[in-house]
Order: sequence, then structure tokens, then C-alpha cells
Amino acid sequence: MVFQVRPKIRIFKLIYNPCIRNFASTTYRLHRNENLYENKYDTQEPKTHFGFKSVPENVKQTLVGQVFSNVASKYDLMNDIMSFGIHRCWKDHFIRTMAPGPGTKLLDVAGGTGDIAMGFFNYCKEIHNDITAKATLLDINPKMLEVGKERFSMTSYEKTSQIAFELGNAENLESIPSNSYDIYTIAFGIRNCTHIDQVLHEAYRVLKPGGRFMCLEFGKVQNPVVSLMYNLYSFQIIPVMGQLVAADINSYQYLVESIQQFPSQDKFAKMIENAGFTIVNNGWEDLSFGIAAIHSGFKL
Ligand SMILES: C[S@@+](CC[C@H](N)C(=O)[O-])C[C@H]1O[C@@H](n2cnc3c(N)ncnc32)[C@H](O)[C@@H]1O
Repeated sequence: MVFQVRPKIRIFKLIYNPCIRNFASTTYRLHRNENLYENKYDTQEPKTHFGFKSVPENVKQTLVGQVFSNVASKYDLMNDIMSFGIHRCWKDHFIRTMAPGPGTKLLDVAGGTGDIAMGFFNYCKEIHNDITAKATLLDINPKMLEVGKERFSMTSYEKTSQIAFELGNAENLESIPSNSYDIYTIAFGIRNCTHIDQVLHEAYRVLKPGGRFMCLEFGKVQNPVVSLMYNLYSFQIIPVMGQLVAADINSYQYLVESIQQFPSQDKFAKMIENAGFTIVNNGWEDLSFGIAAIHSGFKL
């Protein structure tokens, strides 16, 4: 009997002790960092949120830049782990909702490592046997863009010159002419921008008349039980996973906080409408109980 129980206790300790230590150090580090942020940016500048912290507007972009520079090499792996691969289903559904026709010209803003542009090309090739579709993958972060370039270098889409890469800010698409794209996409990118109104204004400008704005972003969960489970998972598990897999707890803490700060689906749909887009039905479709949502508007 004793012989059977003791090894079990040892295995239990082996697994749970590091976890408990991790949670304790996580809580301590988060508390310490929050205080550091508050002291560091005590200025008169207009403030915005960086996760749950309040920072001067002109500092947010640098902080967001640091987050994505830190996570770039582990970004795709962490997405798969954190979402149990579900982000792939959301992105597939996003592309099927877009249903691009042959020769479509796509601007994928905050395109990061290229999931949306890649899904777009695959769809055009599989459904229409089309190799004339074109996409520009634009991102503010050179490291994220580098990972995207590397991925595309292994595909035919680069050889056929269908893909182009641009370093740029969603809030000021200065290199993109007005009325030049059929579809504008931004997936899990807009909540990281400082001025969402400005991003929507630029999206409207660069789309051709008749063009479509599509955004895939985290949303608010209405079901109270799912919401509770989701919040527990987001705040207790994801930052710890970020520490274990990417050795970066702060970036993943920011990511979950930034999700909470993003407007609810109806408020964001109103912002899209205010930017001049025509929305159909209520303007969005909830995915997985509203954990994510697809927003869409037309430039008519
Ligand atoms: C969560 S990732 C999403 C990447 C990709 N769209 C996807 O769905 O996997 C967010 C991306 O937004 C980019 N980003 C943040 N602020 C930006 C801005 N102001 N302009 C352009 N890109 C921005 C980041 O560099 C990062 O690559």
C-alpha cells in the first residue's frame, strides 16, 4: 500500500510544485511591473490604454512594438497552443466569408506572419484556380514582417509576384494610394492601434468604391458561464504559458488585457459605420460564443 501511494505523491509534487511557484512569481512580477509603468509615465500627455495600464499616447506604439518584437519568433506556435488551434478555424471562416473572386487585390493590414494573406491565396488557387490575385501584407513591426516573408519564400506566391510586403502604420497608410484595393483586412491587429478611428478612416480611403472592409478581432462573450471560464483561462493560464513557451510573461499579459479593453461588438460596429462604411445586418458575426467576431463593412 505504502509502496503504491508514495511514488504517486512524488509525481504530484514534481508536477504541481513548479506550477505553484510559477503562479506565485507571476503574481509578484505582474504587480511589480504595473507599478513600474505607472511611475515611469507620469506626464501631462494625453493618455491611452496599454492593456490595463494608462500610458501617454505617444508611448503606446513603442510598447506594442516591443511586445511583437519579443513574440515574433514564437508567435505562430503560441497562437496554436493558446487557442488549441481554433484560431485556424476562425481564419478559415474569415476567408470563406470574404469569398474573393479571381484577380482580387487585398490589403492585409497588421498582417504579421501572413496567415490571412496565405489563406487568401490558397482560397483563390483552390476555388478559382486563380494565380492573378494580389496581396500586400503590411505591418508596423519589421520582425513580424520578417517571419511572414520567410514563410512566403517557401511558396509559389512569391515566385509569381503575387505578394508584396510593406512596413507601415495602419493609422497612416501614406504609401497606399486612395481607392486602390478591393478588400482591406485586419486580423487581431486593430486593438493594438492607438487611434482606432484613424485606422478605419484610412481603411475607407484606400478601398475602391464597392470595396469591403473586414476585421477579425476578439469580442465580448455574452454567456456568463463561458465568459467566466474564458476569463479564468485568459488571465490565469495564458500569461503562464507565455512564460513557459516564449519566456515572456509580460507580452502575453498585455495581449489578454488588450482583449478586455477592446470595444464590444456593437460599439465597434458603430465605429465602422461612423467611418463611412455601410454595414449589412448588424455588421458582425460572433465566433465561438463571441470570443472572436468578424466585422464587415462596404464602401458604397
Ligand atoms: C496579433 S498580431 C496579428 C497578426 C496576423 N494578422 C494574424 O492574424 O495572425 C498583431 C499585429 O499587428 C501589428 N500592429 C500593431 N500595431 C500596428 C499598427 N499601428 N500598424 C500596423 N500594424 C500594427 C503587430 O506588429 C502585429 O504583427
